[in-house]
Amino acid sequence: TQALVDLVTSRLRDIPDFPEPGVVFKDVTPLLADGEAFSAVVRDMAERRRGTVDLVAGIEARGFIFGAAVAHELGIGFVPVRKAGKLPGRTRGVSYDLEYGSATIEIHEDSFVGGERVLVVDDVLATGGTAAATCELLEGSNATVVAFEALIELAFLHGRDRLPGRDVHTTIVVGGD
Ligand code: PRP
Ligand code: MG
Repeated sequence: TQALVDLVTSRLRDIPDFPEPGVVFKDVTPLLADGEAFSAVVRDMAERRRGTVDLVAGIEARGFIFGAAVAHELGIGFVPVRKAGKLPGRTRGVSYDLEYGSATIEIHEDSFVGGERVLVVDDVLATGGTAAATCELLEGSNATVVAFEALIELAFLHGRDRLPGRDVHTTIVVGGD
């Protein structure tokens, strides 16, 4: 709803030139600190997916915050998609390009028994590289990615183009063409 968009927009802070010159970082910490706004975002994501997913996968780092809250709201489990080297068990990973630099993400190789319907959650959809890599990683591990939710979509980076045919929803869209 427009009220949710307005609430979220009012609780985000632009940080110019972070983490490098020319990038305007969308800081979600004011939103997280506001119980009403954080709760409204989580409930909105959860209600759109209720009954259609078995697990939530959250992408480190801020995808953990929103994803775990959505999983709790739905009463289902949570799978962390972590940066390389953080998970203690046997892992499966994939490397991908970022808006700035590159990265590798991993999951435990036994995260899924097979066929689980998974909702992927992150804070930002930018180039879509992280989201696409996550979907590839999960589907290579016998999960079914049924949807992707992010708080913020940076439309000028066309991340949706990296997620063809997928059910993608973002709470707010900034920087359209
Ligand atoms: C940011 C953001 C998303 C990703 C989006 O994470 O939190 O996960 O970039 O970018 P993309 O759509 O171009 O892939 P980042 O990799 O900076 O790491 P962090 O979440 O650990 O801060
Ligand atoms: Mg991230």
